[in-house]
Amino acid sequence: MAREYNLKPAPSLDDGDSMFGTSKVINRRQFLKYGFNTATGVLAASLGVLGFSAILLPPGADSGGSNNGVIFWAKGREDEAWYGAKHELPMTRQDFVDEAAKSSTGTAGAAGIWAGVPVIVVYVDHEKNKDTPVTNGKARFQMMEGYDETGKRIGHFEDMSDLDPRIFPSDNLVIIYGRCTHLCCIPGWQLVSNSFTDDSWTPNGTDDGGTKLFCICHSSRFDPTALEMNSNRNRSNGATFNYAGIKVSGGPAPVGLPIIPVQMNGDNIEGITDYLDWYTYCD
Ligand code: FES
Repeated sequence: MAREYNLKPAPSLDDGDSMFGTSKVINRRQFLKYGFNTATGVLAASLGVLGFSAILLPPGADSGGSNNGVIFWAKGREDEAWYGAKHELPMTRQDFVDEAAKSSTGTAGAAGIWAGVPVIVVYVDHEKNKDTPVTNGKARFQMMEGYDETGKRIGHFEDMSDLDPRIFPSDNLVIIYGRCTHLCCIPGWQLVSNSFTDDSWTPNGTDDGGTKLFCICHSSRFDPTALEMNSNRNRSNGATFNYAGIKVSGGPAPVGLPIIPVQMNGDNIEGITDYLDWYTYCD
């Protein structure tokens, strides 16, 4: 069941907020402390044990269920989501198919843990909807041009998927790394009730509401159906890297969220670990 929260504005670097002392720079520890005071704090804290301090486990490490498997994560606020009773169980495609059948857009999403980091898995009934008119509001994946945080075009999603087709969502499923590119909060799937989380869909990754990943910290929106090439920076060494991602459609987040390529193990959903550099923009 969706909840309603009052959103918090982005913390100002200039206001000398006592929460940050006299420093004009917010470090991650300060931000997390700030974040935990928000309505999303319980969720952030519950995932924080795994997410904020986690390093990506090596391929073959146990992430729950099987090697590289994704498990549902419904601790905290998300225990009231449709997958609340599935906490820590392996994610299966059928779970999403069943939930998407209740959606007017043919979509379903859930929070999970993969390789020790938070993810959002979204099912889009692409195969059924891809050849229907976009005006019917039925979601499908769209491959798009991508831009860096300055707005400079960096390439098309197909530039990447042509080199490695595994990047394209598999079996109507996309796994998205669950750390916001603004300040590394964990976006959710329709836990908040607003126009961006309605069960509606519009084409081209536009910011006119519906079926978005929503980051409650400062209201960034990401369209899981809009696939693009993206660019970000490794926090440890400063290196810039391009990645396949989903489009940021609004809010302060500068760029979209990385995709984790999907592989199926029977009906269980797994992630491919070839692209660990893509997830280095948060500590
Ligand atoms: S952390 Fe600020 S919008 Fe996500």
